[in-house]
Amino acid sequence: MQQVNVGIVGLGNVGSGTVAILAENAGQIALKLGFPLVVKAVCSLDADRVPIPESLGPVFKTLDWRQVATHPEVDIVVELVGGTTVAAEIITTALSLKKSVVTANKELMAVRGAELWELAIASGANLAMEASVAGGIPIHAVLREGISGDRVVALYGILNGTSNYILTEMERRGATLEAVLADAQRLGYAEADPSADVDGLDARSKLAILAALAFGEHITPSDIFTEGIRRISPVDFQYACRLAHTIRLIAAARQTAEGLLLSVRPALIPNATILAGVRGAYNAIWVKGFYGEDTFYYGRGAGSRPTGVAVVSDLMRVAREILRGSPERVSPFAHERLGEYRPLPVTEQKQAYYLRFRVADRPGIIAALAGILARKHISLEAVLQLPCETKHDLPFVITIEPASEQAVREALQEMSPLSFLLEPPLAMPMAPPL
Ligand SMILES: NC(=O)c1ccc[n+]([C@@H]2O[C@H](COP(=O)([O-])OP(=O)(O)OC[C@H]3O[C@@H](n4cnc5c(N)ncnc54)[C@H](OP(=O)(O)O)[C@@H]3O)[C@@H](O)[C@H]2O)c1
Repeated sequence: MQQVNVGIVGLGNVGSGTVAILAENAGQIALKLGFPLVVKAVCSLDADRVPIPESLGPVFKTLDWRQVATHPEVDIVVELVGGTTVAAEIITTALSLKKSVVTANKELMAVRGAELWELAIASGANLAMEASVAGGIPIHAVLREGISGDRVVALYGILNGTSNYILTEMERRGATLEAVLADAQRLGYAEADPSADVDGLDARSKLAILAALAFGEHITPSDIFTEGIRRISPVDFQYACRLAHTIRLIAAARQTAEGLLLSVRPALIPNATILAGVRGAYNAIWVKGFYGEDTFYYGRGAGSRPTGVAVVSDLMRVAREILRGSPERVSPFAHERLGEYRPLPVTEQKQAYYLRFRVADRPGIIAALAGILARKHISLEAVLQLPCETKHDLPFVITIEPASEQAVREALQEMSPLSFLLEPPLAMPMAPPL
C-alpha cells in the first residue's frame, strides 16, 4: 500500500500535539488522503523518555536530528525545534536530500524563509510553514490560495496571544502589566523571559511573514517599526474606555502608492470594531482586499493541538503532492519569488493619536502642551481628565486630530524637558485605518 513517511524533530509543545493528532486522527487523515501518513522517526534531546502512542507502530527514536533528517525512509521532515541555528541546519540538510520540510518556525522563516524556499525549488522539494503564524488559524492557506486572486490592500493582526492575554486581563481586572504578567508566568501562559512577547518581537516575525505572503516583498523583520506593551498602564484602559476604545497590540501592514507601511505597536481601537472583541490568548487577522474587501480570521494563535493541526494539515498537503504529483505547487510565500521591499517609514503615517501624560499638577500645563502642539500644526481633539486624588502624579489625556507621526514625534521631543512631566508622554495611534 502507498504511504508517506514522516520524521519529526522536536517533541515539545507543538511536536507532542502533532504526534498526538497523527496518532489519534490517523483514520480521518487516511480517509481524506486516500493513504496513511506514517511516523517513521522522532527526535528530541530527551526522546528516550518521551512516550510515543503505541498505535503509531514501531517508531525510530533518536537524540540526533541528523538521523531523522537523513533517514532513508523519511519523505517529509518536520522541524519543531525553534530558533535559527539547529533548525536551519535541519531544514537545509533535509532539503538538500530532496526531502520536503514542514516547519512552525516563525523566527527562522521571517529571516531566511525566502532563501530556504529557493533551496526547496532547486531540490524539487516542498517547504510548508502554516503553523509559523497564528497557530490554529489557517491564514497562510488563505493568503496563498483562498484569496490569492485578490490584491491585498492592508492587513491588521493580533498575532501574539501572550500580549493579548495580558492586555485583556489588565482591562478586565484593572491590574498592572507586571501583576498580570507574573500570574501568566505562574500559570505557564508566558515565558520566564517575556521580552519576545511583550516587546513585540514575536509579532514582528509573524508580520514579516504575513506581509511577504500578502504583498510579495522580501521583508527584513528588523526594518519593521516595533513597540511593545510595557508602557501601557491600567489608567490607559480607563481613558480608552471613556473614548469607547480599547487597547490591543496591532501588527499592521498597508500598501500605499509610495510603499509598504509596516508596524507592530499598541493602538487604541474602537470598541465597535471586530478586532476589539479578540480577547485572551486568541489571535485574529483582518485582511482588506481590493476586490473582495474585508475578510476576518480568528482562532487560537498557539497551543499544542491547535498548532499541531496546522502542522498535520501541511503534512497532508505535502504528502498529497509527493504521492499524487502536483505541478501547481505553491510557494509558502504565495509568490513564486519575493520582490524587493520598499519600506515606508512610519513617520510618513498620518493618523489620530492618544497622548497620555503624567504630571505634577500646577497651573499652565495644558497651555504649555497645547502651545507645542500648535507650533507643529497639530490640532487638539479633546482633553480628558478622570477624577484623581494624587495631585503630585496626575494622569490626563489629549487626543489629537490626524497628524503625521513625524510631527507628533517632534512635539513629544519638545515636550520632554518640561519640568512638570513625571515621565515621557505615551503616544498611541487611534483607530488604525480599518
Ligand atoms: N508553542 C506554540 O504554541 C507554538 C505556536 C506556533 C509556532 N510555534 C513554533 O514551533 C516551534 C516549536 O515550539 P515549541 O513551543 O514546541 O518548543 P518547545 O516546547 O521548546 O520544544 C522544542 C523541542 O525541540 C527539541 N530540541 C531542542 N534542541 C534540539 C536539538 N538540538 N536536537 C533535537 N531536538 C531539539 C526539544 O527537546 P527537549 O524537550 O528534550 O529539550 C523539544 O522537544 C518554534 O519554532 C515555535 O516558534 C510554537
